[in-house]
Amino acid sequence: MKTHGKPVPPGGTIGIVGGGQLGRMLALAAARLGLKTCIYNDTTDAPAFQVTPHSLVGPYDDLNMLATFAEVCDAVTFEFENLPAHAIAHLAERVWVAPGAHALAITQDRLSEKTFVEKLGLKTAPFFEVSSAVQAREAFGKLQGCGVLKTRRFGYDGKGQAKVASAEEAAKAYESFKGAPAILEGFVDFSYEASVVAARGAGGAFAAYDPPENEHENHILRRSTVPSRLTPAQTDEAKRIAKAIGDALDYVGVFAVELFVGKGGELLVNEIAPRVHNTGHWTIEACQCSQFEQHIRAVAGWPLGDPARHADAVMENIIGAEAHAWEALARTGALHLYGKTEARPGRKMGHVTRLKPRNH
Ligand SMILES: Nc1ncnc2c1ncn2[C@@H]1O[C@H](COP(=O)(O)OP(=O)(O)O)[C@@H](O)[C@H]1O
Ligand SMILES: [Mg+2]
Repeated sequence: MKTHGKPVPPGGTIGIVGGGQLGRMLALAAARLGLKTCIYNDTTDAPAFQVTPHSLVGPYDDLNMLATFAEVCDAVTFEFENLPAHAIAHLAERVWVAPGAHALAITQDRLSEKTFVEKLGLKTAPFFEVSSAVQAREAFGKLQGCGVLKTRRFGYDGKGQAKVASAEEAAKAYESFKGAPAILEGFVDFSYEASVVAARGAGGAFAAYDPPENEHENHILRRSTVPSRLTPAQTDEAKRIAKAIGDALDYVGVFAVELFVGKGGELLVNEIAPRVHNTGHWTIEACQCSQFEQHIRAVAGWPLGDPARHADAVMENIIGAEAHAWEALARTGALHLYGKTEARPGRKMGHVTRLKPRNH
């Protein structure tokens, strides 16, 4: 496996697997630092292709194409966590890859992720492995109240999950997943959701952004707001949780920890995203070093930037047909459009961030 060597100097090339909006904003941040990007995507219409000097199109498990990709890159990272393990290993034999195969393997699978979080002594919703309809029924019996059945892999924006109110519903939901391994979680009657976006450098340096409060609509993030309602003590705890996770994964790059804030103020870990995160988009305008620049710095072996927040911010996603109102939206704040042509329902088309002078 290629280990981290000297920092990638200006003029070097950072490879990014995945060419959606996250890859696009990573490429823009890299360009500002004088670094080039090569984006690898499995279709030709990737939004990130519009802003990168180099790109490659190929299936995510095409080992020959991935070898070509590794050859033109000085370091490789990801905008999404679902690359098959053998493809990551293939890349890692040829080029420095961050985050590493171990961090990706743990966070790709909700069962291994939650087991890992629990072993660190952190709180999560109760969870049980479900690999059959019988197990789904049994697991429901161990819960107090409702549950959420989730596929272990490939879920996003609420896809691959179902709220269930009885053992029968749990079994039916499992069957609707068509054999995909799942977990059943206890439904958490949380007060609100928050997240910590943080970075860890190759030498172990750690930098966390202020945790935003997050609101979802139809399982899709609608809004992230900083400051959140978290008390200073809860904010410190949230950052400590992120540091414990980052250290235990020997993580390099930016990651996010999604949290449920319980009615009694306790913080439960919902999931870990091993990448830049939608709840960190406000950092582009409200911080000296955005999450995108921070990730590029970490992957390239540069010193981490300052995550301090100089403004209060509200970031709202622009979803599906809402993008048609771009002209009105452009008057209301810092507008980001991702260059996607088709405004399909539920598709993230852009976001707008509104700043106010920092209040405290
Ligand atoms: N155990 C749970 N209890 C209550 N709400 C949940 C639970 N799990 C997920 N949710 C809700 O569904 C959203 C999406 O779930 P999540 O596990 O984060 O999947 P993903 O973001 O990958 O789609 C969460 O942000 C939360 O609003
Ligand atoms: Mg989530």
